[in-house]
Amino acid sequence: MSATPTERRLTIADIAKSYREGRRIVAITAYDYPTARIVDAASIPLILVGDSLGMVMLGYDSTVRVSIDEMLHHTKAVVRGTKRAIVVGDMPFLSYGISTEESVANAGRFLHDAGAQAVKVEGGTRSARTIEAIVRNGIAVMAHIGLTPQAVSSLGGYKVQGRDRDSARRLLADALAVQEAGAFAVVIEAVPAPLAAAITARLSIPTIGIGAGAGCSGQIQVITDILGLTADHTPKHARQYAQVATVIGDALKAYAHDVEEGTFPGDAESFTMDEAILADALGLGALDQAASVAPVMAIPLDEDL
Ligand code: KIV
Repeated sequence: MSATPTERRLTIADIAKSYREGRRIVAITAYDYPTARIVDAASIPLILVGDSLGMVMLGYDSTVRVSIDEMLHHTKAVVRGTKRAIVVGDMPFLSYGISTEESVANAGRFLHDAGAQAVKVEGGTRSARTIEAIVRNGIAVMAHIGLTPQAVSSLGGYKVQGRDRDSARRLLADALAVQEAGAFAVVIEAVPAPLAAAITARLSIPTIGIGAGAGCSGQIQVITDILGLTADHTPKHARQYAQVATVIGDALKAYAHDVEEGTFPGDAESFTMDEAILADALGLGALDQAASVAPVMAIPLDEDL
């Protein structure tokens, strides 16, 4: 999709401006072209192509299984579906952090190959040097602290983070470290609301909460959770604004019913043609009739066609 002359792609400067003006930042995940178009038309300014796609779109049991090629493939589709939103590509497990060179090169693929405007990197203090290197190479980074799903094996499960004194202090240190490293925003996931609010108050970049209360500078959600597209489980931090799985299921049942009953397709969904041409094509035209005592329903032989 190309932008019309009056439209332009938002930038991290627009996010910074919203933040300075005290406007809450709205963000959502998207993983494909048609959904990205809907999100863009809803004027949501920031789309994350999250590695959550591994679980909600690809059926993996964790985000750790997602490859960079899968992330790039979906990021490209979302970029093609948007003309206004900032598209942030989520760097998957071990695509960063092993070496600075590899981290920067992989981050660059999200911009160069997929057309994203920024990348997201999980980890606070532990990822600060990586973030700094990526930013130094001209790539905007959104950080992600608190519950970082790629580290689920070392965190011991999907648990709320920062509930005791030491881990709360570590989270504050993480937030300050990613800000210092140059991140333009930081996602805070699954952190008690008062702690996330206290961190937000101490930062000069926006915090984007998910399961981190209303005191963050903005909110992000996994789109399938808020649309009711995942039939089995809705996380505590998500509010369902629609039951899209039910809508789709009902539509499919109605379609199957109509096909089985022979009421789909009807005239409205079918194409017509001139009856004389059809008769001619079937060898039933006036000339065919005159030329022989051909039997009714004379379908032309292959060699006549
Ligand atoms: O992958 C993802 O969707 C995320 C959001 C939950 C922030 O990281």
